[in-house]
Amino acid sequence: MKKKLTFLGIETSCDETAASVVQENGDSVAKVLSNVVSSQIKEHEKFGGVVPEIAARAHVENIDFIIQQALDKSKKKIEDIDGIAATAGPGLIVCLNVGYNIGKSLAAFSEKPFLSINHLEGHALSPGIENKMSFPYLLLLVSGGHSQYLIVKDVNNYKQIGTTIDDAVGEAFDKTAKVLGLGYPGGPQIEKFAKLGDKDTYNLPEPIINRAGCNLSLAGLKTAVLRKSKELTSDNERYNLAASFQETINKILSKKTKVAMEKFRMEISDGSLRPFVVAGGVAANETIRKNLRELSKKMDFNPIFPSKEFCGDNAAMIAWAGIQRYNKKLFSVKNENVRSRWPLDDNAPFLKGPGLKL
Ligand code: KG4
Ligand code: ZN
Repeated sequence: MKKKLTFLGIETSCDETAASVVQENGDSVAKVLSNVVSSQIKEHEKFGGVVPEIAARAHVENIDFIIQQALDKSKKKIEDIDGIAATAGPGLIVCLNVGYNIGKSLAAFSEKPFLSINHLEGHALSPGIENKMSFPYLLLLVSGGHSQYLIVKDVNNYKQIGTTIDDAVGEAFDKTAKVLGLGYPGGPQIEKFAKLGDKDTYNLPEPIINRAGCNLSLAGLKTAVLRKSKELTSDNERYNLAASFQETINKILSKKTKVAMEKFRMEISDGSLRPFVVAGGVAANETIRKNLRELSKKMDFNPIFPSKEFCGDNAAMIAWAGIQRYNKKLFSVKNENVRSRWPLDDNAPFLKGPGLKL
């Protein structure tokens, strides 16, 4: 019988210092033995966004303790680990360097294999932590820096069919929360305050809604929110605008996801019920989950949303991606390094736009 691999994952691409120990469990799901995430919300709150140097310093202060905690909670010692996987990009270079270098050193000293992981692949494979997945599946990856529709054909095999040409969805949530004075990080705050408002109060723009396939554009929506926010005089009005913004995002995602599903069917026309996965921090939003669950039903897709602990940045998804790559002998090459930009699909067109994060 094949040995069940146990990997240590390390994630420091942005403002979460995270380490996790994950073990293979049966065919294709995982046993998460520990999943430690130290968020830096307090450090960045007063700036309304992530400050790279402050984030990097916090990673340096916390990383060894977080790794130790992940090992302790999993009841494993470094000798019991079969491999170490660390995020190598995309992300903030000063932040990536912290987790990547400690992972690499730890692997060298303990003579374990070391795997460089693409953070986006971590999100893309995250549904497999809890679900037995079969390829191919359609993925909507929505986070603070990325918003993409991808056909996940296999580990290391992605076809991008849509992307944002300006802001990412999470970024739009964060910026809207900032102009409305609702706090940081914006996504959960908007979701919370939208419950107190009326989503039909404001009619906001849905840029490129009927063109450009399943590419997204959110800059115009952000500008409209900014303009409206200056006219508001009460908390109630702010909650109404938060609710209208969230409703507009839902309308945009419904329309564009329908286009993405049609594109997927054109490419993969075996007629079987295929999974539609929504991953990344924004996938934690309950209204988006409900909206896309309903659409999936209508379009004959099987909707899959990772548990919330695996939606936001975490190291379990990095360890899991490490195990998947190791099993396919996709080992890291020598002299690899961290990188700020690292698309999952090298052939995807680079759609330039203001603020495009890819
Ligand atoms: O995947 P993630 O943790 O980090 C990146 O890789 O970027 O995603 C963070 C993003 C932030 O923009 C945050 O505001 C958003 O996910 N987010 C949400 C919710 N929770 C987190 N957006 C909408 N609704 C939420 N409940
Ligand atoms: Zn992420």
